[in-house]
Amino acid sequence: MKVLHVAAEVFPLVKTGGLADVVAALPVALAQQGADVRLLLPGLPAVIEAVQGARTVIEMGPCFGAMRVRLLLARLPASKLKVYVIDAPYLYRRSGGPYQDGEGEEWPDNLQRFALLGWVAAHLAAEDADLKWAPDIVHAHDWHAAMACAYVAEHAPTRAATVFTVHNLAFQGLFAMHDWPMLGLASRLMSPTGLEYHGQLSFMKAGLTLADHVTTVSPTYAREIATHEFGCGLDGVVRGRGASVSGILNGIDEDVWNPATDGAIAQRYDAAAPAGKLACRRALQAELGIDADDSALIVTLVSRLTAQKGLDLVLAALPEMVAAGVQLVVQGTGEAALETALRMAQQAHPGRVHVHLGYDENRAHRLIAGADAIVVPSRFEPCGLTQMYGLRYGTLPIVRRVGGLADTVTDATPEHIAAHRADGFVFDAATAAALERCVRRAVSMRGNDAATWERMRATAMAQTLSWDGPARAYLALYAQLLGNLPARR
Ligand code: ADP
Ligand code: GLC
Repeated sequence: MKVLHVAAEVFPLVKTGGLADVVAALPVALAQQGADVRLLLPGLPAVIEAVQGARTVIEMGPCFGAMRVRLLLARLPASKLKVYVIDAPYLYRRSGGPYQDGEGEEWPDNLQRFALLGWVAAHLAAEDADLKWAPDIVHAHDWHAAMACAYVAEHAPTRAATVFTVHNLAFQGLFAMHDWPMLGLASRLMSPTGLEYHGQLSFMKAGLTLADHVTTVSPTYAREIATHEFGCGLDGVVRGRGASVSGILNGIDEDVWNPATDGAIAQRYDAAAPAGKLACRRALQAELGIDADDSALIVTLVSRLTAQKGLDLVLAALPEMVAAGVQLVVQGTGEAALETALRMAQQAHPGRVHVHLGYDENRAHRLIAGADAIVVPSRFEPCGLTQMYGLRYGTLPIVRRVGGLADTVTDATPEHIAAHRADGFVFDAATAAALERCVRRAVSMRGNDAATWERMRATAMAQTLSWDGPARAYLALYAQLLGNLPARR
């Protein structure tokens, strides 16, 4: 089976969040199970500079405002996965982020930049971009790649089925309706049953309505996005797709996130020999200059700093958490107001709160290895990866019961503890009081019942979190879609 994954980011070349981790790991897991997988990426500077052995597949000429568009075929440096790269210097070769400039403003030509990504995917599917390879499945990730589903649906002869994965429904790729002609799509799609969304164009809606199948990154989020509370205005569209929307829980890259082999941490450890975790803990306190307090509960938080992530709950509960014996160590970047509030929190709690405003992969490994617990109090969370990294590192997650957090963490209730299933602490209400109660449970468990804490840590580290299972689920979905294709087209 030939599968083309289409995305805007891939770890470690371009990463704004967990999407990049997924795009780096899932195709490799699919390939290990026998699929012939390639990736299609926009030629952002970091991609062009890093890929190996690039050669031109086709000169595509001028399109979407770019004078020269070339399709390259190369390999990713670490995994050696084959990757198509769209070299369109006018649209992609600029400093700043993949979606925004250095000031945090959306690139004004994002419509052209990401329509081109989908358009090239459709040409690969139509067997006219690379005469030597064409996918059976086009798998597009988030709004950035969603137009692949529209162009495949509209680009007549194609054998490919399309899968669209929603990693975050809150980012939708909305554009002014007057830009419609630039997309070159049939006018019937410029309607509420197509891309039109309250007078604008929605790339997310193109994926939701035109993909043969829609997945999200956890079963619970798949149910949640069909509701008004989590649907971000698109819950009606999601409900309209019925059984064509399903959830497949993400895995984690167990080579990148493995305390037994992690070169970034002070001392390696695993479930059989967990002593190294204590060394990581002490090294972290020393590195951050927080109190060398063995009785504290070190809670880490590694996150984009946005409303989604529930940082306001942590800030509101912080005085009580510190009073209860917590040391909070944060690493993140994002909204200015949250950054300022976190900086002030550090000043207010010397020796107990440490905040690093920045992005640093190795440092994230040291925080997660050295902390006792990792807090993810999100208001919504499609899957969430850091709580799974926490499980793998024996750093017990403290999470809100939403989305993928609900699907990955088993609360320390008496029943779950007795059944040896508990591996974290879960709360329901999106309130500081509920978070604080949950954190107190963790403090009290670590302080008063070390045996249960150790057992929960062992349970956490024994979880199966690899991509093998999810990759099998995607392959089964692909096979089912290909089986149904003649009936649908
Ligand atoms: P989201 O994709 O919504 O941001 P996830 O939990 O799925 O949330 O993925 C976040 C990813 O980004 C994880 O790999 C996490 O370690 C990483 N990350 C987030 N912020 C930082 C940071 N400041 N430094 C290093 N890694 C970070
Ligand atoms: C999104 C979501 C996050 C998920 C990630 C990878 O960024 O916010 O919950 O883990 O995508 O699927």
